[in-house]
Amino acid sequence: MSDRYAVIGNPIGHTKSPLIHGFFAQETGQDMSYGAIEGPVEPASGFSDSVKRFIAAGGRGMNVTAPFKLAAFAMSDERSERAQLSGAVNAMKFEGGRIIAENFDGVGLVRDIEVNLHQPMVGKRVLILGAGGAARGALLPFVAARPAELVVANRHVDKARALVEQVARSNTAGGSLTACGYADLAALGRFDLVINATSASLTGQLPPVPASVFSAGGSAYELAYGKGLTPFLRLARDAGVESIADGVGMLVEQAAEAFAWWRGVRPETRALIERLTVPLD
Ligand code: ATR
Repeated sequence: MSDRYAVIGNPIGHTKSPLIHGFFAQETGQDMSYGAIEGPVEPASGFSDSVKRFIAAGGRGMNVTAPFKLAAFAMSDERSERAQLSGAVNAMKFEGGRIIAENFDGVGLVRDIEVNLHQPMVGKRVLILGAGGAARGALLPFVAARPAELVVANRHVDKARALVEQVARSNTAGGSLTACGYADLAALGRFDLVINATSASLTGQLPPVPASVFSAGGSAYELAYGKGLTPFLRLARDAGVESIADGVGMLVEQAAEAFAWWRGVRPETRALIERLTVPLD
């Protein structure tokens, strides 16, 4: 029988993970199946019961998406440092009766920016908007990419400060890492890379970011994908930003990281990213 994998979330109808992993499996010749499971939101134990059933049926690993990333963290036996820092899990491996947990969202994002979009962060000024789950997942891999300066801006500044303080303890890369509110951004000058890690674009909103943060030769990255030219990307483009991108590359790259972790072989991602890319306008 093929090795079994699945993504679990609720709702799950929109997921591209079975398509992505099916493509990877074919490309690398791995004998595996990958399905989608709608986990129950209630009762509270519904998620962990679904995971346990999948393990009992021979499941080898799972991806986890909203709203279960925190519940997956809670039920894991071992967690990577990235998962620990973000408090969230997007991939699990089942081995020897244990649940091993990872979070590949941040590494997937960094890889998309640095490798696919050719924008290395080393020595650069980088601004992250938002301090929720998405920003938390990204922060440690961002620090490891050694930007000269990394600023986290959030409406609730305390949330950004708490996150920065937590990461600062493992910041051995030496760059500056600070938190601020949106009102402070006008005084901070231009950034080489601005990432929208808020959930504002999901409701068509624009975080209150001044156009002065963008630099003409720089880049802007929207974590949401398939939403076209969001208000954030439009603002960046109007400010003359050269490279604008949405999160489709991150989606494929985090999947490739999980696949390599499970199967020991890293799939090619370029063709799939091209296939899934929806033009921004
Ligand atoms: P999750 O953890 O699931 O990513 P979250 O904790 O609700 O979701 O975080 C969403 C992020 O988007 C937060 O940083 C939030 O800012 P606050 O913490 O200040 O609430 C941010 N966000 C959502 N809508 C926004 C908007 N319209 N403008 C700016 N930031 C917004």
